[in-house]
Amino acid sequence: MCGIVAYIRKGSGASSRVIEGLKKLEYRGYDSWGIATVAEESSAPVAVVKKVGKIGSVDSSRVSRALGRDRGVAIGHTRWATHGGITQKNAHPHVDCSGRLAVVHNGIIENYQGFRDRLIKRGHRLLSETDTEIIPHLVEEGMSAGRSFRDAVLEVSRQLEGRSAFVLMDAGSGQIAAVRLGAPLIVGVGKEPGEMYVSSDIAGFLDYTNRVMYIDDGQAAFLHFDGTRPKFFEIAFGESVYKRIVTVDWKRGEVGKSGYDHFLMKEIMEQKHTIADAINQDDKRILEIAGSIRHASVVFLVGSGTAGRVCAAGEYLFSTIAKKHVNAEVASEFRNYKHYLTNKALMIAISQSGETTDVLEVIDIAKPRGAKVLSLLNVFGSTMMRMSDDFLMINAGAEHAVASTKATTAQLSLVTLLAYATAGRLDEGKRLLLNAAAQVNDMLNPRYEEYIKKLARKLKNKHDIMIIGRGVNYPMAEEAAIKLTETSYIHAHGFAGGELKHGPLALVEKGTPCIALIANDDTKAEMLSNAIEVKARGGYVIGVSPENNKIFDYWIRVPDAGNASPIANIIPIQMLGYHLALLRGINPDYPRNLAKSVTVK
Ligand code: AGP
Repeated sequence: MCGIVAYIRKGSGASSRVIEGLKKLEYRGYDSWGIATVAEESSAPVAVVKKVGKIGSVDSSRVSRALGRDRGVAIGHTRWATHGGITQKNAHPHVDCSGRLAVVHNGIIENYQGFRDRLIKRGHRLLSETDTEIIPHLVEEGMSAGRSFRDAVLEVSRQLEGRSAFVLMDAGSGQIAAVRLGAPLIVGVGKEPGEMYVSSDIAGFLDYTNRVMYIDDGQAAFLHFDGTRPKFFEIAFGESVYKRIVTVDWKRGEVGKSGYDHFLMKEIMEQKHTIADAINQDDKRILEIAGSIRHASVVFLVGSGTAGRVCAAGEYLFSTIAKKHVNAEVASEFRNYKHYLTNKALMIAISQSGETTDVLEVIDIAKPRGAKVLSLLNVFGSTMMRMSDDFLMINAGAEHAVASTKATTAQLSLVTLLAYATAGRLDEGKRLLLNAAAQVNDMLNPRYEEYIKKLARKLKNKHDIMIIGRGVNYPMAEEAAIKLTETSYIHAHGFAGGELKHGPLALVEKGTPCIALIANDDTKAEMLSNAIEVKARGGYVIGVSPENNKIFDYWIRVPDAGNASPIANIIPIQMLGYHLALLRGINPDYPRNLAKSVTVK
């Protein structure tokens, strides 16, 4: 979703670093971008360039030339549209009437409409449809009334509702304000004296510095440009706070495409090792966590989208492996269960990015009730990591493609391992997962991909695909549907096999494709019966299974991975999604309308 990068340095030439930083945030998904600098010599103090489209292939030097010589400061943004369409006018930065203030903003200002109406009545010229644009105009008003930049920013910040973060640049006083109101914002301390970064994502500056200061919610950092040493962390709603510089000892992993045409295929292939990497954990910690799971009065597994499906699979895994009931819920629907949260409850939050607002909101509900929060994460230093009592990294390395693949199977691996540890069978769990990792390694070969490609050609013009599964593969059927939908834009729907006859069967007609995820477990016979029901009505059955069966029109062979069957079953579907995307002329890495880091509700 939206991304913020700001940079200040001594002298001039700040914009190119911001452009490079924005390119690092490309993976988050966005539709337009923009940069503002304070021009050294110009009639308008703030220079702005903004465009609809992607910044990836943009020549940094051309943009820098268009912005002109700057005073060592630049702020930039990638926008994922919420308020107002995808237009140049709605792209950030937005400036005030005087042209001296420019803002970039992530998240949503829930109470913006009233401010906007009043600003227009008072004669302000608002040029966009965004909620963001009220910020520079409100600060402009505060400053016209005699307040300093700092005081005006703090006053406005106190009034904004909703989760957001913004960076506001003032050409007049030579400062930028970085304000965090529920959405992430991190300060990076550069190597040169006076060199500072601000970004919504550590990736925005990690190539240049790993020394960071975390801004907490309700805090603002004021950084001075124009060659003086930055002065930081004047804190909103209170007095100044000393911030420790933290060195982030974390590699995002390989960030290029490693010779693949797309991140999606690269990340699918990386599953040859990421399953084993995920379970490469400290046994002592895993056993401690298993103890907390065993003793908690109630355990919730919470996540969104694909991570939500991993949680649902976790509910089955804990039940079958550890005989422990845990409750899986999608984060956006969790509120209803908050009454069960006490200081004896445990919440396990699963999120690749560690920034998903729906999950952060659940943690916000859990913490004041005394519940312990454990996060399973892939991004070190993320908001969720800092909000949680404890965390485990899934070690999947940077995942760029919007469609999650290797993070999903890494999450599944770690959840399975925790289930085994809770059952007091940690070593058995490790053996199972290492065996699954080896099986996946064998499966991901060129011949296998060729075979999946053949199926993609058969399915490419279909309007609907049904997917069925039972037991732990029921949530995997739902995950398969998410994967196919977001990569191919074909409507796909995942059902519990047993639910077919209660409604969905009405959709089956001659040629309707139905993918059946059939594990070699106690659901097998019933799954085959469900597949026969589809076939009897003319459906085209694609069996994903360790063994072939005469009822399959097409067989995708997967290894018999026992309790790791969700991992084995989902990988060919990820590959199918990739090839469907290519055949349908869709960029597999960046599906329309979706974002990698979902920072709005
Ligand atoms: C994954 O393919 C999806 N694009 C999406 O559902 C994703 O899993 C969801 O937004 C949660 O993201 P998170 O893991 O970063 O919290």
